[in-house]
Amino acid sequence: MPSRTSSASGPLVRIAVVGTGAIGRRHALFCMEEPDVSLVGIVDPAESAGGFAADLGVDHHRSLDALLERHKVDGIIIAAPTQLHRDIAMVAISHGVSVLIEKPITVLPAEAAELVVAARSTGAKILVGHHRRHNPVVQRAREIVTHELGRLLAVNVLWALLKPPSYFEPDWRRRIGAGPILTNLVHDVDLLRYICGEISSVTAQTKASARSHDVEDTVAVLLAFESGALGTLIGCDASPSPWSWDLNSGENPLLPLSRENSYRFFGTEGALEFPDLHLWRYRVDGEPGWTQPISRENRTVHVAADAYRLQLQHFVRVITGEEEPLVSGEDGMRSLQATAAILESAMTGRSVDPSRLT
Ligand SMILES: NC(=O)c1ccc[n+]([C@@H]2O[C@H](COP(=O)([O-])OP(=O)(O)OC[C@H]3O[C@@H](n4cnc5c(N)ncnc54)[C@H](O)[C@@H]3O)[C@@H](O)[C@H]2O)c1
Repeated sequence: MPSRTSSASGPLVRIAVVGTGAIGRRHALFCMEEPDVSLVGIVDPAESAGGFAADLGVDHHRSLDALLERHKVDGIIIAAPTQLHRDIAMVAISHGVSVLIEKPITVLPAEAAELVVAARSTGAKILVGHHRRHNPVVQRAREIVTHELGRLLAVNVLWALLKPPSYFEPDWRRRIGAGPILTNLVHDVDLLRYICGEISSVTAQTKASARSHDVEDTVAVLLAFESGALGTLIGCDASPSPWSWDLNSGENPLLPLSRENSYRFFGTEGALEFPDLHLWRYRVDGEPGWTQPISRENRTVHVAADAYRLQLQHFVRVITGEEEPLVSGEDGMRSLQATAAILESAMTGRSVDPSRLT
């Protein structure tokens, strides 16, 4: 394990990125900019990856095994298609190398469980790429929900936007396992678990009527939390809508910002709009209630740092042993279970307890 002091003589940790498509390229570029990181190489079987590697001045390999034969690495970022996460992560973990695995951790919860067990035996650390948790806005929302809303009663989430036809050009994005539930809503599910606590039951219906793809385009979900709170979540990737974390957070420079709120948390003492962090509550003498004017407090957090960059810096500290993963393999598995429960409920027409899914 590299130590903190080695940064004086050069970059602290050696990282490789596996899969350099849309998100992998961003990871690689962040690695190039991070003083504590040395990007030792990239892995991607695609021809175009060679040019990207040459532009960065790093080695290009077609498999992780080939890279590991040539280089010593301390951490591997896995940003290949989700269906490959399990096998690629297993190669890294069996070499004792820590991994930052893009979300969802795997396609099946059972695959995630295998990775958790394997990492325990080799000492490798797993950090799952639910980058939103690193965003200061999310951390502030969690504090407000925990300390200022009273008892949480309900939460309402909208995730609706329009993915253009070009998004679906890579064939894997049209196949089961790559629809908006596993690809996008897994982030919202993880965020809900982070802010509201564990999900105890999921009831859902899906539709695939907007395009001629196998994967769903629309889903409606009813959630129950262990705390007793209830939640609803609408997901749709086929509607021209401004309400989704992706468009409202400004996290992705490729997506124009729409300043709308896509989450609402309801507690016994107040309600919170998110991500703008508008806190609504009664500040009146006498009996609070709907006959009184309700006040809005602005708790907006102005984010200077990029959540992906903060995630990478955290990954470095996980590798050096300074911090435990903010999103561990178990955590990624639980978020996957709750997300898979949406698919399971939609298929069976029954409510599903996520912890029963393996
Ligand atoms: N955290 C986020 O915000 C975020 C955003 C987008 C995607 N993702 C996740 O990242 C992963 C990749 O998504 P994407 O949109 O970048 O996909 P993409 O299709 O744009 O890129 C995938 C890349 O992996 C490469 N690849 C294919 N087989 C490989 C192999 N065996 N070894 C190494 N590389 C291989 C492909 O050639 C391609 O370059 C998915 O799991 C997705 O859910 C996360």
